[in-house]
Amino acid sequence: MAQFSLNINQHNYKVDVNLDTPLLWVLRDMLGLKGTKFGCGKALCGACTVHLDGNAIRSCSFPVSAVKGKVVTIEGLSENGDHPLQQAWEEIDVPQCGYCQAGQIMSAAALLQRKPKPSEKDIDMAMSGNICRCGTYLRIKKAILAAAE
Ligand code: FES
Repeated sequence: MAQFSLNINQHNYKVDVNLDTPLLWVLRDMLGLKGTKFGCGKALCGACTVHLDGNAIRSCSFPVSAVKGKVVTIEGLSENGDHPLQQAWEEIDVPQCGYCQAGQIMSAAALLQRKPKPSEKDIDMAMSGNICRCGTYLRIKKAILAAAE
């Protein structure tokens, strides 16, 4: 066990945890930030995506001891759920079961931060690691394009 200082959604936290504990479990079990989901646990599905200094990372496979920088989760993406992507998601009614959608939005937000006007190919590439079992991919793409307008 060791103590780690983390900055998450603009708040500073100190947690006592094993070095190799994935960030996902610190977020969900220790800090109660349940918007970030567990899917595969192997960095393959994208359900657990959060931002580390603006880059999308898979928190299920990212040891808390390796977190050097600011973390943003879906809870911290916007003040009132009004990020352009969240608005587009709602307008286009993207989710079906909804389980993967926080991860989808976080991957899309990282894309728009580095490329505010992405092409469809950019979107396909950036989102290729986020799996949706309900197959909402076309609506996800539509929402990203709408948010980028
Ligand atoms: Fe992390 Fe699937 S739960 S990528």
